[in-house]
Amino acid sequence: MEKVSELVTGKAKSVFSTEQNDRLVLLFRDDTSAFDGAKTEQLARKGKVNNAFNGYIMQKLEAAGIPTHFEHILNDNESIVKKLDMIPVECVVRNIAAGSICKRLGVQEGLELNPSTFEFFYKSDELHDPMINEYHIRSFGWASDDEMAKMKELTFKVNDVLKLLFSEAGMLLVDYKLEFGRYEGNVVLGDEFTPDGCRLWDKESLKKLDKDRFRQGLGDVVECYEEVARRIGLEV
Ligand code: ADP
Ligand code: TMP
Ligand code: ASP
Repeated sequence: MEKVSELVTGKAKSVFSTEQNDRLVLLFRDDTSAFDGAKTEQLARKGKVNNAFNGYIMQKLEAAGIPTHFEHILNDNESIVKKLDMIPVECVVRNIAAGSICKRLGVQEGLELNPSTFEFFYKSDELHDPMINEYHIRSFGWASDDEMAKMKELTFKVNDVLKLLFSEAGMLLVDYKLEFGRYEGNVVLGDEFTPDGCRLWDKESLKKLDKDRFRQGLGDVVECYEEVARRIGLEV
């Protein structure tokens, strides 16, 4: 399957139509952005490692009964996915406090959240992805009650699968963001699962192995993504 025309140029990925109406090519670029596009940089090999990483994780999730858009890897930087009608909300689960929750609620980074928390954000760079609740989603018609329930259920199911997967590889899954869309009437996991959209810490040293290395200028961003990939058994 080949790319036909570019439909969306996101901050880190590009989306192309294909000759098949319900399939897209997702191109993982080296572009890296933080703070809603305020900080950007090209990091060599990032697109490649994220494409491989995402394919591996999506297959694990699918095997665990979570419907995903992932079809197959096309080449180093591209994958074929189902074309979804994207729901403009981001679903975030946090197992440990880090990032925006620390600023918002004045809690220490590293605080264990038991039970884990769930938050919805409205996907809008201009508005800096504001936190929203079920009532906003209902009032603005972004998703139905059934779809919201499904997004929450699937996001927590992802937590069960991936907390264990990363734990067995010596890492803590601190938090992550998921995006869902509709496909043939069902809620399906879309977008990506990579160190660009989650936080992963080494279990012993608590070293950050995710996009916080870029946000905080810690260096070795792609080297750490590659280490995470290798630890879960990928050859990169
Ligand atoms: P952003 O737009 O947030 O900067 P990306 O650079 O990752 O993000 O761009 C990817 C775009 O593709 C996003 O708008 C995302 O919602 C969209 N997308 C991801 N998966 C699918 C899919 N299966 N079908 C349609 N759109 C998708
Ligand atoms: P936050 O701490 O900035 O709210 O982010 C929580 C997690 O979700 C973190 O792993 C980063 C991820 N995330 C994104 O990747 N993109 C986003 O737009 C948001 C709001 C969060
Ligand atoms: N939406 C943000 C961005 O990529 C998330 C982040 O800061 O990582 O700009």
